[in-house]
Amino acid sequence: MNNRKSVGLFVSMAFGAALAGASVAHAATLSISCGAVGQEFEFCKTGTEAWAKKTGNEVKLISTPNSATERLALYQQLLAAGAADVDVFQIDVVWPGTLANHLTDLTPYAKDAVKEHFPAIIKNNTVDGKLVAMPWFTDAGLLYYRKDLLAKHGAQPPQTWQELAETAKKIQDAERAAGNDKMWGFVWQGRAYEGLTCNALEWVASYNGGTVVDESGKITINNPQAVAAINNAAGWVKTISPEGVLNYTEEESRGVFQSGNAAFMRNWPYAWPLAQGPESAIKDKVGVSALPKGGADGRSAATLGGWQLAVSKYSKNQELAADLVMYLTSAEEQKRRAVKGAYNPTIESLYKDQEILAAAPFMGELYDTFVNAVARPSTVTGANYNQASNQFWNAVHGVLSGRAKADASLAQLEASLKRMSRGGKW
Ligand code: GLC
Repeated sequence: MNNRKSVGLFVSMAFGAALAGASVAHAATLSISCGAVGQEFEFCKTGTEAWAKKTGNEVKLISTPNSATERLALYQQLLAAGAADVDVFQIDVVWPGTLANHLTDLTPYAKDAVKEHFPAIIKNNTVDGKLVAMPWFTDAGLLYYRKDLLAKHGAQPPQTWQELAETAKKIQDAERAAGNDKMWGFVWQGRAYEGLTCNALEWVASYNGGTVVDESGKITINNPQAVAAINNAAGWVKTISPEGVLNYTEEESRGVFQSGNAAFMRNWPYAWPLAQGPESAIKDKVGVSALPKGGADGRSAATLGGWQLAVSKYSKNQELAADLVMYLTSAEEQKRRAVKGAYNPTIESLYKDQEILAAAPFMGELYDTFVNAVARPSTVTGANYNQASNQFWNAVHGVLSGRAKADASLAQLEASLKRMSRGGKW
């Protein structure tokens, strides 16, 4: 009896679905891989749902690991197997050279939209004349600080790393003495992964120590400024930063800062609306500035980050997938994401939009930081980028954790990058 009932139910559901299907010609189900750091997944969901509703299709979301490095490994596995089950990939700004062979040329779909985006990102996403991904949002490393604690302890936002370390120590000591024994001075991303490459590039570039590999392919990392920058950062561990920072990605740092247990944090823009959210212990107590300089002769350097949307060459729904990408990267959707999620637009004109500037004031105040952000050497190293970056973050991690000396470690790194690139030819 029970069985028959359920068979009847199944049949009528299937019949209903067939009827509903008939009214929407060629409805398809696409799948998209979305990041899940902070609110990323939620924003991807609402954006794709709006497109699905508008076009009568369906979109499945595939969530990915938070670490960019783990995410790349997953994508490489899927793409190497020629998997057709992910139509749209969210790819990092440093991956076009690595993944280009698996991605569709979006030029015929993008048309005039290309002109709206920052030319440098379009150039970054163009490999051998093919536009392999559309820019979705851009990123730059920022310094978050506790306005209330700086005021309480008579300090200003730091201009140099030296000032940051001094202020961080002063606040940490005073707050611990006042009863918060969980207080730390500075949290950042020190795990051995792509995020450490981003942090360490900022330190090195801020001391005028270059970008590891320069635009011509030459390996520049073995220099005294780079050694000084990395030694300086190693001095933070266990003094103003917990030892655990050596295993932190973005979300672990945000967790400590947002629960009120750090004076400073290095992170990307996404952390802003969360720090200001209803659940946050530090709502209205947060300031955002450019990162400190490497000494009086140094400069403030932010690593250029950001994410793009690409269509897999193996997708069975090329046109629809490209349509979804064009919708998600459009000005309207980028504005929604900027206002509510502080995802920095890649469309230049949106930086004059009053609603965006009111919701995330740093996008206007720190405009120069975003447009002058320092690129990782992914264009010149091409398909070797991830391997080169892996060598760099491991060399730095060794120094931070006290296993190696900076000068020896960078000399070794230089030698291994030379081997990898056959003498800088890449
Ligand atoms: C951010 C950046 C990305 C970078 C990653 C490292 O997501 O946008 O470019 O590779 O952080 O953790």
